[in-house]
Amino acid sequence: MQSNAEGSPPEGSQIEGSQIEGSQIEGSQDKDAPARAAPPKQFVRDLSEKQAVHGVFLARDKSLLVGKNGKPYLSLRLADASGSVDARVWDNVETVNELFQSGDMIRVKGQVQTFQGRRQVVVHRLEKALPEEFDMADFVVRSARDPEAMMAELLRVAEAVEDRNIRQLTLDVLNDADVRARLLVAPAAKTIHHAYLGGLLEHTLSICGLMRAIHAHYVACGAVMKLDYLVFGAIFHDIGKIWELDIDRGIGYTDKGKLLGHMVMAVELVEKKASRILGFPEELKDLLKHIILSHHGRVEYGSPKTPMFLEAFLVAAVDDLDSKVNTIDAFMRSERASGDRWSRFNQLFERYFFLKA
Ligand SMILES: [Fe+2]
Ligand SMILES: [Fe+2]
Repeated sequence: MQSNAEGSPPEGSQIEGSQIEGSQIEGSQDKDAPARAAPPKQFVRDLSEKQAVHGVFLARDKSLLVGKNGKPYLSLRLADASGSVDARVWDNVETVNELFQSGDMIRVKGQVQTFQGRRQVVVHRLEKALPEEFDMADFVVRSARDPEAMMAELLRVAEAVEDRNIRQLTLDVLNDADVRARLLVAPAAKTIHHAYLGGLLEHTLSICGLMRAIHAHYVACGAVMKLDYLVFGAIFHDIGKIWELDIDRGIGYTDKGKLLGHMVMAVELVEKKASRILGFPEELKDLLKHIILSHHGRVEYGSPKTPMFLEAFLVAAVDDLDSKVNTIDAFMRSERASGDRWSRFNQLFERYFFLKA
């Protein structure tokens, strides 16, 4: 347990809590028990001050903390496809803590309160939700862009590749039925950036666009670099994520993903598809594999090799840029809903963000 400055219950919540003491235990019977018949889904986005909360949410970031009064409490986030909101459990904390883990779907009864200018759900009752009590589609976040349109755009990018071998390899991969089906839904990450269905296509196309602009800019400045390598890197660097990540119950890692990782799987894909292209140069294959293997930039970030030529360096740098822009933008947009001038502390970037800029 850690202590936390936010660990004081908002006014009034103890009184409400004491009325329902002992009622959070799973399976307990009383008139306050949330009905098992699923009511219409209540979305996080629509929750407003003083509103009663009753529904299924995805539990995230659960932690057991100690308040200023020395009493333990549970802090968590309730999430669905529309967003997430802070929640607190003040009573029967140890028992409730045993009922669920982060990542579980939970049925919650509580009330929205405002604490330090932010919405917070004070949870009165909580239990694990049964599979028939929710529709997974309510919890799956999708790209705002149409996946088929993104796929068509990516194929146009691939067709414009000048190098015959790289173009053939790229088109063979994108037209592979298994790759295509997976790419249409794949997220780019489990959490953090583009962590939603279609996120990988969005991330890939974004990098393709940046690569064209960067190439035009630096070539005009006299730099020597091949656009085909940059576009290859954009399309292939994370393509292994279509097998690394599983989207059946939220976003998680597959066994293959845990054992091999997306870089190795992308290199295997290049090896398999390039071996079917007559006369595919061996050295070109090695350069392309290097772009994939070095794209995390540093050994401590999971790349077995650091980038050893300009295009490989640019793929790593632009990948990092695009993922950070997506992460900060999504964080700031969700934080602006609070109306505050400053965001909450962002653990990943280790700073507060100024929301009125
Ligand atoms: Fe990656
Ligand atoms: Fe990436």
